[in-house]
Order: sequence, then structure tokens, then C-alpha cells
Amino acid sequence: MSLRKAPVPRLLLDNVSCIRNSQQVLRHVNVSMHDGGALVLTGTNGSGKTTFLRMLAGFSKPSAGQILWNGHDVTKSGVFHQYKLQLNWCSLKDAINERFTVLENIKWFELLEGKEGRSLPALQLMGLGRLANEKSRVLSMGQRKRVQLARLIALDRPIWLLDEPSVALDDEGVGLLEYIIAKHREKGGIVIVATHLPIQMEDAMFLRLPPRFPRRPTLGDMLDRGELM
Ligand SMILES: Nc1ncnc2c1ncn2[C@@H]1O[C@H](COP(=O)(O)OP(=O)(O)OP(=O)(O)O)[C@@H](O)[C@H]1O
Ligand SMILES: [Mg+2]
Repeated sequence: MSLRKAPVPRLLLDNVSCIRNSQQVLRHVNVSMHDGGALVLTGTNGSGKTTFLRMLAGFSKPSAGQILWNGHDVTKSGVFHQYKLQLNWCSLKDAINERFTVLENIKWFELLEGKEGRSLPALQLMGLGRLANEKSRVLSMGQRKRVQLARLIALDRPIWLLDEPSVALDDEGVGLLEYIIAKHREKGGIVIVATHLPIQMEDAMFLRLPPRFPRRPTLGDMLDRGELM
């Protein structure tokens, strides 16, 4: 009989809680992710999706429990140094410098990463090749989002943390987002997405965060129940 040990998850949240502004936002979260895995975070406004991603990115620490990368606690400074290089973060703040061209806005990040030659193909894949040498201020909202997605591809880090990545994208843009996520996972990349909108991802795990406060009855609820008649 062979007793093979189960592989250590690439990323493990072990009973993690998080406090923000003296209020408990996340409570006893357990998640285990292996290479190629995808996790979709859903939940009402204020339920803690962005907090979850920020904590994984190291912007805040768990108030209880541990986040383990390859079995090591990411809050230990030696581990965090390596762990943070695995992460790519895409949020509503797009970090686009409007004085730079569209291409420079990706190349700059690529350069910091010590990489070269991936920015233009990434922009082309996102359908923005013809805008490469335009100043970034000409970009529409959806095009700005596409630049962010092009950065993800150009930098090619293993763990993607995506906060509402489909906001402002048209149908084709959402299709491209789904495509690059699928390709990334095929290569063993991990994707964690907070979203209110449907994004197709094969075999994704879903985590619905509970609302932080009980929902108060709205005017619509009262009308439905005939309480205002
Ligand atoms: N900078 C902050 N300091 C303190 N509390 C914060 C801060 N940002 C958010 N919060 C609080 O943390 C809770 C969770 O917020 P979070 O942004 O994680 O929610 P969310 O699920 O991402 O919501 P949304 O769907 O609106 O994006 C909210 O109650 C919010 O008020
Ligand atoms: Mg959010």
C-alpha cells in the first residue's frame, strides 16, 4: 500500500478573521487552493470581499488564524518578501499615469519586474494595439480596465487578486477576461476574484461572504407586504 502525502496547498487560509476599524469583517474563513485553482468571492456591498483580497495582498494582517503560502505564514517578513512577488493585484484604482502613453503604462511595470517584450503583445491581445502610443488620458473606462488586464498578462505573476475586474468591460472585454483567466489557470496560476457580475470560470470555488449587518426592510419590502397600505 502506498501512503502518498497530499500536496501542501499553494495557498491556505486557516480559520482567518479580520478586523477593520475595530469591527470584525471576516470571521473564521477557511480556504485551500492548489495550482490552477479559482475562487470567486461574492456577497453584498460591505461584506468584506475587498478586505479579503487586501489581506491576501498583505495590506492588512489577519486578526486571528493564518494565511499560509507553501505552508509558510505570509506575515513572517522573510516569507512575505517572496510571497509578494507571486501576487498581481487588479482593483478599481488602476494606477494609470495619464502623462505616459498606453504602452508605457505597462512597460513601466514590466521594467520594474526585470521583464521585457511582453507589453505590446499583451495590449494587442486586449484589443488596444492601435492605442499603444496614444497618451493614456484618451482611454475610456473600459479601455483603462483592459490596460490593467494587459498588465496582468505582461507581468505574468502566479497569483492574481482581482477586485471587480469586469466592471466597465463590454461583452467582448468580459470574454477576454474569461479567456486570460482560463489560460493563466492552465499554466498553474491561481485566481481569486471578487465580483458582483457573473464571470465564467470552470470548476471555480465560490465563497459567499455573509452580510455584516442584518438587512433592514426597504420601502419595497414594506410595499410588498402591504404594510404601507
Ligand atoms: N479603509 C477602511 N477602514 C476601515 N474600514 C473599512 C475600510 N474600508 C472598508 N472598510 C469597512 O470594511 C467592511 C468591508 O468592506 P469591503 O470594502 O471589504 O466590502 P466589499 O465586500 O468589498 O464591498 P463592495 O461590494 O461594496 O465592494 C465595510 O463595512 C467597510 O465599511
Ligand atoms: Mg469591494
